[in-house]
Amino acid sequence: MEIKKVGILGCGLMGSGIAQVSASAGFETVVKEVSDEFITKGFLEIEKSLAKFAEKGTINAPQQKQIRDRLSGTTSFADLADCDIVIEAIIENLDEKRKTYAELDRVCKPETIFASNTSSISITAMMTATSAERQTRFVGMHFFNPVPLMKLVEIIRTILTDDQVYEQAVAFGATLGKVPVRAGDKTGFIVNRLLVPYMLDAIRGLEEGVGSIVDIDTAMKLGCGYPMGPFTLGDFVGLDTTYYIAEIMFNEFREKRFAPPPLLKRMVLAGLYGRKAGRGFYDYTKDPKNPTPMSLL
Ligand code: 3HC
Repeated sequence: MEIKKVGILGCGLMGSGIAQVSASAGFETVVKEVSDEFITKGFLEIEKSLAKFAEKGTINAPQQKQIRDRLSGTTSFADLADCDIVIEAIIENLDEKRKTYAELDRVCKPETIFASNTSSISITAMMTATSAERQTRFVGMHFFNPVPLMKLVEIIRTILTDDQVYEQAVAFGATLGKVPVRAGDKTGFIVNRLLVPYMLDAIRGLEEGVGSIVDIDTAMKLGCGYPMGPFTLGDFVGLDTTYYIAEIMFNEFREKRFAPPPLLKRMVLAGLYGRKAGRGFYDYTKDPKNPTPMSLL
């Protein structure tokens, strides 16, 4: 089966980014959200990103229009029925995801491949909400933020994923302009398994007085060539998201390196979620381009 039509569930930060790369790669792309308001908001983000690419000359005006024309929004599952692949990027909540997959399974044609963009929830735990036939056509496709720029996609298989379906998902990831890597269904897959303990360790280092927020960030940027230090990255990803992923990983592996440090928990409780909240390890409220480090200890 050739992939021609792509469905995206969720038009938030990740869903809108995935929809954008799908339409940019030439696929008819339909995005489902719970309300028109969320679709409008997500499509606005796509517009902003396309405008940046147009400004740089990566795409021209006719291409921008073609990409827009390949995108449509809906609030109805029925509009995903004839999609060849559906990529889900809704809220990271297993119950919500299972409900969504059960509904999608009823609506979609038997050949449709189901792919989840989850960063930490078990693909197997979601897959079992669908029929036995669909379970063989179920994979993870984990993209990275900002999706239009980040080159990686992790393709995750379960013990039931059909070999051909898996290879098709890998090939599809490459068609989207990403570099696919293969990963098993182990919480955190490859990137978050390594990245999350690193970010948590940076927070533990801060708690222990190893260095300041700015010095730890500068050290990792200049010492390792990372584009962002761990605190800037945490604020960028969202500290609530980081905390949530760490909790899931800790529950899965019961290893201390995945345990969220007390400072992270308190910041999340206090609503310091990072850039999207205006404050996290840095304060973005006065000058977002030059944020000032917070006094947290
Ligand atoms: N669409 C199009 N262009 C964009 C864009 C978008 N969404 N976001 C930024 N850009 C462009 C900017 O316009 C800018 O263009 P210019 O060079 O022509 O001015 C260029 O990209 C660089 O942007 P900035 O100047 O704002 O900032 P940076 O140079 O720091 O680059 C970055 C931004 C690409 C985000 C870079 O800092 C980076 O790679 N950071 C690390 C991101 C990362 O690690 N992501 C993974 C997070 S983990 C994850 O997602 C997994 C999940 O499960 C938690």
